[in-house]
Amino acid sequence: MRVIRRPLRLARLGLLMAVSAALTGCAKALPQSPFDAAGKVARMQMDLLKLSLWFAIGIGAFVTIALLFVVFRFRAKGTEEKAIPRQIHGNHLLEVAWTIIPIVILAIVGVPTVKTAFATRATQNPNDLQVRVIGHQWWWEFQYPQLGITTANELYIPVGKDVQITLESADVIHSFWTPKLAGKMDVIPGRVNHMYFDAEREEEYYGQCAELCGTSHANMKFRVQALAQAKFDAWVAERKAGAKTPTDEQALAGMDLFMGKTPSKANCITCHTIDGTKAQAKVGPNLSNVGARSMIAAGVLENTEEHLKQWIRNPQSVKPGAKMVAHPNLSDQELEAIVKYLQSLK
Ligand code: CUA
Repeated sequence: MRVIRRPLRLARLGLLMAVSAALTGCAKALPQSPFDAAGKVARMQMDLLKLSLWFAIGIGAFVTIALLFVVFRFRAKGTEEKAIPRQIHGNHLLEVAWTIIPIVILAIVGVPTVKTAFATRATQNPNDLQVRVIGHQWWWEFQYPQLGITTANELYIPVGKDVQITLESADVIHSFWTPKLAGKMDVIPGRVNHMYFDAEREEEYYGQCAELCGTSHANMKFRVQALAQAKFDAWVAERKAGAKTPTDEQALAGMDLFMGKTPSKANCITCHTIDGTKAQAKVGPNLSNVGARSMIAAGVLENTEEHLKQWIRNPQSVKPGAKMVAHPNLSDQELEAIVKYLQSLK
C-alpha cells in the first residue's frame, strides 16, 4: 500500500506547487510589482533582476536534480557491509570545472550589474524636475524647490520626464520605494541621498516605506500620480495659486474652525499649512490639496467623508502611534464642517 500512496502524495504536492506558482504569476494585477516596470530606471533594474533570477533558478534546479540523483542512485540497499566505504578525493576535472563555471556565471551577471548601477545613478541634472522627499514618522513630505510647492503623501510628476529626487529624514531611517518606478533608496537622518526615475505612462503608482521605522511603518505609504505634461502644468498652476476659499456655507464654517477664528477644540492651525491662508505650521502634512488626494493618513484610508471624520476624531484607531492629535471633544457639527472644508481643498 505504502508504495502506491507515496507517488499519489507527491503528485498532489506537485499540483499544489504548480497552482501556487501560477497564482503568484498574476504580477500585472499587483499594484506594487517590480516585474511590471513602468519607467526606464525600473526596467533596467527589472532586466538585471530577471537575468540573475534565471541563473539562480538554473543553478538551483541543477543542484537539486544532482542531489536527488546521488541520493537515490547510491543509497544503501541494506546488503552492504556496515563498514565505512572507500574514501576518495581529488578529481582534477571536477575541481577545474567547479572553479571555472562560477567565475563565468559571475562575470555574466557582474558586468550588467555594474553597468546598471552606473546607469541608474541619479544624474542630478539641474534642468530636470527636482523633488525633495522628506520622510517623517509616518508620512511623506514632497517639496518642489523650483516651483515653491509642498505637498504630502501624493507625489505628482509629469509623464516621460526624469525626476531628480533627494531623500532626507526628519527623524529615523525610512526607505522610499515605488516598485514600478525604481528600486528602494534609504532615507537617512543627517544625510542626503539621490535617485531619479521617470514614469512612462499615466497611472497612480503605489509606493511605501520599506525600512522598519517604528509602530506605523506598515502604514507609511504614498502614491505617485504621473500626469501628462499639460495636466501636470495645470496642477502646478493650481497649487501656486493657493487654496481656494470655499463657497459652501458649511465648508466656510469649517474653515473658520480650522483657522481658529471660531473658538473650538480644533487646533488644526498649530500643525498644518494651507497655502494662501494664515495656516502655515509645518508639524504635520501640508493640506492645501487634501481634498484631491485619493487616500488619507499616508495611504491607509480612502479619502471619504467617513474616513476623514474617523481620522480626525481618533487617529490611533487608523494609524497606531500617529503623532496627529485626537479630537474627542469636537461636536459632530464642528467635525462635519471641518471635513467639508478639507474636502473643498482640491
Ligand atoms: Cu518609514 Cu518604515
